[in-house]
Amino acid sequence: MASKKKQGTGEALYIGIDLGTSRSAIVASNGKRDWIDSYVGWPRDFVAKKMLGKPILYGADALANRLSLHLVRPLEAGVIRDGSQRAEEAVRELVHHLIRQVDPGDATEIYAAVGVPAEALRVNKLAIRNAVKEYADSLMVVSEPFAVAYGLGTLNNALVIDIGAGTADFCILHGTMPGEEDQRTLAMAGDWLDQQLHERLAERFPEASISLPMVKSFKEEHGFIGNHRDRVKVKVPVKGVPTSIEITADLRRTCESLLPVLAEATTDLIARYEPDFQEEVKQNIFLAGGGSQIKGLAEGLGEQLASYGQFTVRTIQDPLFAGAEGALALAQDMPAEYWVEM
Ligand SMILES: Nc1ncnc2c1ncn2[C@@H]1O[C@H](COP(=O)(O)OP(=O)(O)OP(=O)(O)O)[C@@H](O)[C@H]1O
Ligand SMILES: [Mg+2]
Repeated sequence: MASKKKQGTGEALYIGIDLGTSRSAIVASNGKRDWIDSYVGWPRDFVAKKMLGKPILYGADALANRLSLHLVRPLEAGVIRDGSQRAEEAVRELVHHLIRQVDPGDATEIYAAVGVPAEALRVNKLAIRNAVKEYADSLMVVSEPFAVAYGLGTLNNALVIDIGAGTADFCILHGTMPGEEDQRTLAMAGDWLDQQLHERLAERFPEASISLPMVKSFKEEHGFIGNHRDRVKVKVPVKGVPTSIEITADLRRTCESLLPVLAEATTDLIARYEPDFQEEVKQNIFLAGGGSQIKGLAEGLGEQLASYGQFTVRTIQDPLFAGAEGALALAQDMPAEYWVEM
């Protein structure tokens, strides 16, 4: 059921949504906020449906019951997977679920600003509009790093790098709405690190059975760049027996493989920027997204860039909600002509 509330008696509700490959967040002008893992699942058959007792599951609930579900991660690699009707439906369900979580009540109108991976903005803008239009009266879709920058108030001579699961998105800010030429997307981000670490560990510990979700959690808990860290030991099953293995070097090498990739895109974007302001941009580099939480990443990137001059790289606060907070700020500030009436 669509939840447009034009006939309601309350006030207009503004919402900011960060639609991510791995996690999606929402923040509303009524003070409510929430996030979920970007998974939607439908019971595989009538047995699964009876057991689960619901027609559709979201987020961690869907992940936990994945064996009984058609599980969809709709924004894999930063775009709605090609021609997949299921994926489009999953995006719609995800958005609907998020909006329900902030309880729009009797809002007269819903204004939604949605931040999406830069690549999805290029490829799937229409599909994303379609996904949201049932639930919002006016809509704006922007790139995730721009939403983050807007929330931070760093709108001029700055670079935001949003390191998510599917993609690392770069956006250079020059005091006006950024265009395509100000943005870059790399398919090398969190998922890519997980895959690499998985391969490394499988090679070094062929006896152990190590799953991708296990590897992801090792990375999230211990991932680091640079020296001076305690040794990292984790438990994995070897022939069914939990066994401790040391993965310090594997983890460090995997995380550090991100540095040259990030540095290249950074220097390339800055080199194309107005020469008079390049030095200022170098002092305003912000890391966002879940991947920005790799310990030592900001320092490591600064060092990687040292041969191009002095850079100041900072990790933003609250990466989980920064995109949604920024999208909400945009929704509240945006003049009428930017909104698309649904
Ligand atoms: N503490 C941590 N250390 C390292 N990586 C982390 C940490 N926490 C989360 N991540 C990684 O961050 C990624 C998720 O980040 P985020 O939630 O910003 O992605 P997303 O917005 O869903 O993806 P995208 O922007 O590509 O659409 C995952 O790969 C996750 O493993
Ligand atoms: Mg993201």
